[in-house]
Amino acid sequence: MSTLTIFSSTRTPEAAAPSATSRPIPAVLGADLEVPVKGGRLVGYANLDYAASAPCLEPVSAAVTAALPAYSSVHRGAGYASQLTTARYEQARHTVRAFVGARPDDSVIFTRNTTDATNLLAGCLPEGTTTVVFDTEHHASLLPWRHAVRLAPPAFPGEAVRAADEALAAIEGPKLLVVTAASNVTGELWPIAALAHIAHRHGARILVDAAQLVPHRRLNLTALDLDYVAFSGHKLYAPFGAGALVGRRDWLAEGEPYLKGGGAVRSVGESVEWHDDPEPRHEAGTPNVLGAIALAAACDALTATGWTALVREEERLIARLRSGLASIDGVRELSLWGDDHPRVGIVSFTVAGYSAREVAEALSGEYGIGVRDGKFCAHPFVRHLLGTSGGASDGDCADDTGSAVRASIGIGSTQEHVDRLIEAVRDLVSRC
Ligand SMILES: Cc1ncc(COP(=O)(O)O)c(C=O)c1O
Repeated sequence: MSTLTIFSSTRTPEAAAPSATSRPIPAVLGADLEVPVKGGRLVGYANLDYAASAPCLEPVSAAVTAALPAYSSVHRGAGYASQLTTARYEQARHTVRAFVGARPDDSVIFTRNTTDATNLLAGCLPEGTTTVVFDTEHHASLLPWRHAVRLAPPAFPGEAVRAADEALAAIEGPKLLVVTAASNVTGELWPIAALAHIAHRHGARILVDAAQLVPHRRLNLTALDLDYVAFSGHKLYAPFGAGALVGRRDWLAEGEPYLKGGGAVRSVGESVEWHDDPEPRHEAGTPNVLGAIALAAACDALTATGWTALVREEERLIARLRSGLASIDGVRELSLWGDDHPRVGIVSFTVAGYSAREVAEALSGEYGIGVRDGKFCAHPFVRHLLGTSGGASDGDCADDTGSAVRASIGIGSTQEHVDRLIEAVRDLVSRC
């Protein structure tokens, strides 16, 4: 059942049986980066901030370097380099389609990132659409909707399905359910297959924010029966400014063109005839070819490695990190659905006696560790988890009132990085 694909990586078929074609886990650029710490020493950087932006995979950098000599215009040149670059751009679309297991007739629109993708879809919703969204969402998925019903953080996964069921049943007209696949705050996996089922039972569609899932787990849009998915290249080891919105064509073919300009039109005279193919309709102007090539190279590299090896290593490290932090008095991990709920490589926590900013600054300045602190652009959710209420200063992603520290891992993370974080937090607590 597709829910299991999402909920328990260790029990998925791909995790159980090594793939015959899998290759070694590729390296990331910057693995040997050294950074200054207090006293002027240089130490190897422990990058534990993958959920914000992941480092570049070597095969991604190689693909971009290989594409540069023939870099040229896309969709508008007769020259050989232009044709080659156009072919590479369109091949990238096919690769992204296959990576998320999209249906053959789904659209794949290159965007800047997940935020761009959710906003693009928001502009294409049929007149009168009501969106149902949980307060646990990242702002990229919480905010773009004109008419939204916001649901409180559910106490357990079944409650998420029940609350969505009730909310969708009460809505007349077109409806869209928006939900994250993996929380950027807790890493916890959401029951997206069950939510897709409920959405469809009410004639609604579902958009899944896969920004934090696709760097860590295989996603199959067709098997899960999702209508749309959105994700970002820079979280998928492809930091070249591209993301994607993938999903059903009809709303996208009829929606207002996201950008108005060259490429989105068939002809311009007294009136304008817009493309009704979603890709040109919403990708006006010169596209981010290198971003798309980079994104596709990351998809290829992850697929070639196989999820078995990736998931196994991530689960080993995240279990070590969580149990290490749990052994320190005064450290509290944030969790919506409890310790045993499956999650990707993200852990948010608080340290008694310190603000999150103090912890993050000490980790960086004294130990060469990079983490994120704040509310992670998920203000309502972090407030809920911390049991704090909003204040006037909660206007951006960086305020440190009622905040947490977030450590996140991925390809290139090592046991030494994890152990250094645990020992650094232990050391900070011992000084309190
Ligand atoms: C779950 C989730 N959705 C959306 C976003 C927004 O991604 P981007 O900044 O690439 O648009 C993020 C970024 O942290 C995220 O974690």
